[in-house]
Amino acid sequence: MKKDDASKGFTLWFTGLSGAGKTTLAQKIEQIFQDQGYKVELLDGDVIRTNLSKGLGFSKEDRDTNIKRIGFVCRLLTRNGVIAIASAISPYKEVREYNRNLIDDYVEVFVKCPLDTCIERDKKGIYKKALAGEIKNYTGVSDPYEEPVNSEIVIETDKETIDEGVAKILSALRHLGYLQEGNEQQATEDEVYTEEEEEKIKQRLQDLGYI
Ligand code: ADX
Repeated sequence: MKKDDASKGFTLWFTGLSGAGKTTLAQKIEQIFQDQGYKVELLDGDVIRTNLSKGLGFSKEDRDTNIKRIGFVCRLLTRNGVIAIASAISPYKEVREYNRNLIDDYVEVFVKCPLDTCIERDKKGIYKKALAGEIKNYTGVSDPYEEPVNSEIVIETDKETIDEGVAKILSALRHLGYLQEGNEQQATEDEVYTEEEEEKIKQRLQDLGYI
């Protein structure tokens, strides 16, 4: 995954409500990988919708098309040794599973945050409009979000800091064999995990057949 290294890429797929913290986490992770010399691309829903998915709306059909397009690009990048990071609401289980099957090395991060907290944060002021009915079919308000039950990684952004979330993601990637042991993130991560959390991650990886 390093620049001069022929090892495999993978896709790190962030899913969650608008305002849950997907982009914040994804950008931090992207920066860390860049600093370490990995080849990495971030595909962010907001950006993708201005180019690759320009013109698509928020019906189920359009969202599925959007997510499949992002998945397709992630597949191409991944098979060429790049770390592809996707950050999109991706509200529907079926299309998330479609991408999971499409991409050989797919790691899902569920960025979990109660709707009320996302509404309180309302960084873009968009929930206010959705609640007032000015925006139709808004995820979580007037459109579904199907919570994942099989994500490799779950980050609860109302309970953990961004740095804790980042450390957990890096640790899980290490456990999954996508990152080498012993880089500079190790120390932070060891301080962050409780034994109970460590056990939970192990269990999840076991359930998924990774260990
Ligand atoms: S997805 O459902 O197709 O995965 P995506 O992540 O690309 O969505 O886009 C979400 C972004 O579009 C959010 O930043 C949000 O502010 C904006 N947006 C505009 N309208 C909607 C809507 N009806 N539902 C959800 N997000 C919306």
